Amino acid sequence: MENRPSWSSRYSFILAAIGSAVGLGNIWRFPYIMGQHGGAVFLITYLILITTICFIPLLAELAIGKITQKECIGAFETVNPKLKFFGLMNPITGVLVASFYFVVGGWIINYIYLGLTNFKIENHAQYFSTFTQNTLPTCILSLLFLIACMYFTLRGVKKGIECANKIMMPLFALILLGLIVFSLSLPNAQAGLEYMFKPDFSKINTQMFLCALGQALFTLSIGMGALLTYGSYIKEDKSIAKSAYTIIFFDTMFALMAGIMIFPAIFSFGLEPSSGAGLVFITLPYIFSQISFGNVIFALFFLLLFFAALTSGISILEVPVASLIERMKYSRAKACFVIFVIVAIISILATLSFGLLADILIFKKSIFDFLDFLTANILMPINALVLCLVASFGLKIKGEMFLENKIVAKLFDIGLRYVIPIVLFGVLIVGLI
Ligand code: PFF
Repeated sequence: MENRPSWSSRYSFILAAIGSAVGLGNIWRFPYIMGQHGGAVFLITYLILITTICFIPLLAELAIGKITQKECIGAFETVNPKLKFFGLMNPITGVLVASFYFVVGGWIINYIYLGLTNFKIENHAQYFSTFTQNTLPTCILSLLFLIACMYFTLRGVKKGIECANKIMMPLFALILLGLIVFSLSLPNAQAGLEYMFKPDFSKINTQMFLCALGQALFTLSIGMGALLTYGSYIKEDKSIAKSAYTIIFFDTMFALMAGIMIFPAIFSFGLEPSSGAGLVFITLPYIFSQISFGNVIFALFFLLLFFAALTSGISILEVPVASLIERMKYSRAKACFVIFVIVAIISILATLSFGLLADILIFKKSIFDFLDFLTANILMPINALVLCLVASFGLKIKGEMFLENKIVAKLFDIGLRYVIPIVLFGVLIVGLI
């Protein structure tokens, strides 16, 4: 297609891809999943998986985009028109992920407001539960978060996506560093570091391994078309393998930094790290309420989450928007409007699943939990699996095209053809069971 957007430089692309990878997965999901799976052993497993196995589908997804220069559906169609359906699964997964991601985005906006206005909360768990059940404000806030992301998607690749990442990612890193210094200065901070870095090997089990792999795929934005779409906007860059390493390096570093910020604070106050999804919305606000100038830290922490979620949210929206623009020949404005309406409707349903629609269960899960489960445990692994097969058997992508070291290139080929598809198939089966 003529006039396809493209990045202004390699740096812009890498920054945007890091912006997509570093999100709620790193700061909200990673610490609580690590807390539930025994701390350091989970961290070691996660680090091994993310730096070895996950490199393969990450590079494959970028390569498919770069080579075909098409959005998801067109990219798969190039290989074989019969694969169009699997291409379409990517923007569909994107819309579904967006719908629950933006619910959390809405909560974050509320918590920034609480921090800025120095709002006093008596019981943090109760506040969180009452707030998330409150229909009107939560729906409005999710929509507000969606509008914030859509604003940048609407402005296009250079003026919107690049610009958002150039402003927000440095701010994100700066706030994170500041919060780490604060957290490490708390009494008994080293207990949190020990929890993170001193492994208890008795906690190793299959469930933990699969969770670590699922988390690694989610945090790298693999299996949803975001990297494929971003990769398709690359024109010149010859070394996408280097870009893939860089994305993994920064994503892992930011997840580690989030842990170093969160766990010392939790242990310093003698709290439990295993409280689940409420960790950053209940446990951390409680800690902030106990310290002087806590409201400033409170607001900064949620601003950090906001930046992380926004740059990822933008990449999620770009997948279906790019598909509508290229497949249906919609203008960017019309594509954004259509996706806005669809995501808004599903987001509102997911938001209401904490209140008005709490009784509606799909496979015994609330709409929100079902969307999370469906996307992270089923759709993303299926998409990633198909992606590896299409890259190796369809597009005949070989490691030697991107990797200088012959042994690494060979390992890449074996991983792409056999190992990753088998592992992902296993993840899928266990996820379904
Ligand atoms: N990687 C993001 C995170 O860790 O929060 C989530 C995400 C963004 C997943 C974009 C998938 C995606 F396409």
